[in-house]
Amino acid sequence: MKRSTTLAAALGLAAVFAAPLANAQEIILKVAHFWPSTALSHQKVLLPWCDKIAQESANRLKCQIYPAMQLGGTPPQLIQQAADGVADIVWTLPGYTAGRFPSVEVFELPFMSRSAESSSRALWEYAEQFAQKDFAMVKPLAFHVHDNGYVHGKKPINTMADFRGTKMRAPTRLTNKMLAAFGAAPVAMPLPAVTESMSKGVIDGYVLPWEVIPTVKLHELTKFHSETDPAEPALYTAVFTIAMNKAKYNSLPDDLKKVIDANSGADFSAMIGKVWDESAPAARQHAVDRGNVFNTIPASELASWRKVGDTLAAEWVQEMNGKGYPGQDMLDSAKRLIEQHSK
Ligand code: BEZ
Repeated sequence: MKRSTTLAAALGLAAVFAAPLANAQEIILKVAHFWPSTALSHQKVLLPWCDKIAQESANRLKCQIYPAMQLGGTPPQLIQQAADGVADIVWTLPGYTAGRFPSVEVFELPFMSRSAESSSRALWEYAEQFAQKDFAMVKPLAFHVHDNGYVHGKKPINTMADFRGTKMRAPTRLTNKMLAAFGAAPVAMPLPAVTESMSKGVIDGYVLPWEVIPTVKLHELTKFHSETDPAEPALYTAVFTIAMNKAKYNSLPDDLKKVIDANSGADFSAMIGKVWDESAPAARQHAVDRGNVFNTIPASELASWRKVGDTLAAEWVQEMNGKGYPGQDMLDSAKRLIEQHSK
């Protein structure tokens, strides 16, 4: 903790300031994430959010954003940084710490999501009911998922058999299980490690949504992009949270707590999903412009993939029951909320 704090101080100069330097009345929130500052998440979500809370608090709440892990540590450690107060707010994937936040994993099962916007609203509502205990060490400000995840790599994936013998990067425990069930050798790693792993041949491919691919220049290292029939639900998605240090939130005066409250929750979560959905076509265009090769896996082929998804869902329910969670109720609720918000 001491080391991180010293490192944070040392790196303060390199941080991206979303606001001028503080005066005595200002409360500066240290916001940490793993993306580069050019990423859509930083530019189109965090910066506007920071501007909004500054404006609504008459400049009493401001952000100091530390992109690209500038506060030290690794992406899987971000959530603990928010719990410990190394950062005041973090944006990360709970699934980078496999098994620690099982309640929200249900949204990472295959073929659940219709759009990031609708699933993100559904996820917030679901989390209010089922994820309070798992996230008790932080104050969640948003839960969301990314735009549809696809398969990208050195060879095209047309059928499930094409996964055999491939080393595929997976972001979360359930995508790991999905890829293994398809016949691939899954390799778990957070986003910042994927580009180097592709360039060094550690992996043959990866699953990711379009939004982030140009940000980390992966379209330059990838020839084939295998998308799924757009009429089908997404092959997979991953869960994210923007989470605040509880003590920091509790230390705010009531009027500033209200500003945070008004800028967190279901609408904020859905807004993030919408930004990500809308970003996909422009991000995909980068791969088109390079002359990369695309294929669409048809619904007829995906029928057997969906059976694998059903098996993984049934296994997840059993695992959750074994941990004392109401597994079937959680799966049914997640599906119902996604359905309800996808209309
Ligand atoms: C991932 O780790 O899969 C991921 C990270 C950031 C944006 C989208 C996906």
